[in-house]
Amino acid sequence: MVGRKPKGVPAGSSRHSAMPQDAAPDAAEARTQSGGNGSDYLIRHTTLRQLQLLEAIVRLGSFTRAAEELFLTQPTVSMQIKKLSEAIGAPLFRHVGRTIEPTDAGREVHAACRDILSTLSNLEIKLADLKGLKRGRLRLGVLTTAKYVAPEILGAFCRVYPGIDVSLKVTNREHILERLMGHDDDLYVMGQPREANDQIETIPFAPNPLVIVASAEHPLAGERSIPLQALAEESFILRESGSGIRDAVLAHFAAAGLTPRVRMQLGSNEAIKRAIVGGLGIAALSLHSLTLESGGGRLALLDVEGFPIMRRWHLVYSKGRELSLVARTFLNFAIDYEPEIRARLAEAEANFDGMRDRLSARSHST
Ligand code: PGA
Repeated sequence: MVGRKPKGVPAGSSRHSAMPQDAAPDAAEARTQSGGNGSDYLIRHTTLRQLQLLEAIVRLGSFTRAAEELFLTQPTVSMQIKKLSEAIGAPLFRHVGRTIEPTDAGREVHAACRDILSTLSNLEIKLADLKGLKRGRLRLGVLTTAKYVAPEILGAFCRVYPGIDVSLKVTNREHILERLMGHDDDLYVMGQPREANDQIETIPFAPNPLVIVASAEHPLAGERSIPLQALAEESFILRESGSGIRDAVLAHFAAAGLTPRVRMQLGSNEAIKRAIVGGLGIAALSLHSLTLESGGGRLALLDVEGFPIMRRWHLVYSKGRELSLVARTFLNFAIDYEPEIRARLAEAEANFDGMRDRLSARSHST
């Protein structure tokens, strides 16, 4: 992720102040006078907050995004990195075109930061575990499709464990994978990571069917066994790049030697539903995003050959971080909750089937 975004380079003077070319001579001297124990010098001249900042900048490839993530201003970030750089005695970042990347020294400091921050985080978990489940914190990262059920599971969990603070990050597949690699959350609800990875644990969770959605007014809404070929002639609304749904639907068309006619791209399932109702086209969506509409609204599921694409969510966590007692308890809670999610899906599917029958009967009687 390093050096990914040009926008991360701080504006104006911070560009230089954050990256001193030479350390102050007195600092350099003090370092060599530390009796051979360099870490003593660093303990006195660096702060954990500075290390946390450096870790975030390297991970996000941007001063701006690190400032946003840690709720700091950009000048504060630049100033702290300048101080860290002086304490280390070498520049930590360099400009490559319009992006930044860590210098060799920056990379070494980053590797050490990750160890230190991960040790502290594990310590936090152990201390919380000592206090049991009365207090604690749960950070959950979920796919956009799981946002339709995650709050409900969290709500039920918090009723049983009211002392737990929870945070929920909802984003697309690409960003969930980044968060997983950055150890940003305790647990994730996501699809199957594509490459085998022995650093992560994946536990199969609820089904996540991908269906084709059209306006209830659409001529195909009452049809049965629509060939995929017929969809290739429709205007398609596609999710943004980085979305798992987008990749799955494009791969499905490609496997049949087809390409959908993309009318527009939208970064939100909710916006896509609105666009469908607005007559802008049809789209592939997770059935989870439609459970509220299944009672007979303005959206219909098309009965397309090869659909639904049956996918599955997984509960995923990184083996590199110890799973806290809170996270372990939530994991088991979510697994016990799964039958409710399945029942909701089955009900939505049955409702949409009933709607199709009604639409079909109506079109055959006219
Ligand atoms: P997306 O994920 O938000 O990345 O499209 C949804 C999914 O794969 O279910």
